[in-house]
Amino acid sequence: MKVSEFMKRLKDWKRGDERLYLQQILNSTVGPAIVEDYMKFDWRYVAEKKNKHNWGELTSNLLFIGMEGNVTPCHYDEQENFFAQIYGYKRCILFSPDQFECLYPHPVHHPHDRQSMVDFDRPDYNKFPKFKSLNGCETVVEPGDVLYIPIYWWHHVESLMRGGSTITVNFWYKAGPTSLEYPLKQHQKVSIMRNVEKMLLEVLQDPKEVGPLLRAMVLGRYNE
Ligand code: OGA
Ligand code: ZN
Repeated sequence: MKVSEFMKRLKDWKRGDERLYLQQILNSTVGPAIVEDYMKFDWRYVAEKKNKHNWGELTSNLLFIGMEGNVTPCHYDEQENFFAQIYGYKRCILFSPDQFECLYPHPVHHPHDRQSMVDFDRPDYNKFPKFKSLNGCETVVEPGDVLYIPIYWWHHVESLMRGGSTITVNFWYKAGPTSLEYPLKQHQKVSIMRNVEKMLLEVLQDPKEVGPLLRAMVLGRYNE
């Protein structure tokens, strides 16, 4: 959706309608004024961080324009993220990749890949018992803040309920070169698990066969 079309929908929006949330790649179609603002970002600051932490190239920027109360369900991304808050307030809760097992991600072939299956508002502790042990870091970002969301870190993001509209631009960077040092880091293990799932799907062809095969392989043999 174009920004202009979104702004029109926002104007026509009435209480009771579903909330709107624009999420679109920042490119020349968003209009020259936004591009001009984008150029004014503190590029020296970000270049310094990128070099210091050895990140790869900037791949994309996502522009988020939202309404108060909008929620982005908890998920992780496979890129380093500089999350620049432009307007309004967002509550962000971050969880380290070590907490993979408490967050129960969907299978990789599911449309909600990288997203937790747990409903944070009404967690089903019978189905997801380890969710109880989840431990996160919480903050509220305000205009001018830049939050670093490390690659593979889970994040739940919500525009504060009575905080007005929100605008964010994120800066996604490729992971830096990684060396295989043992013991592997948890996020490297997540990456391995993703590859195993993808490989199994490729050979089995049917997503429904992946779970049973994994269970047959593990249950009663790798339980310790
Ligand atoms: C992100 C992200 C969600 C939001 O920048 O990776 O998930 O609602 N943002 O801002
Ligand atoms: Zn994200």
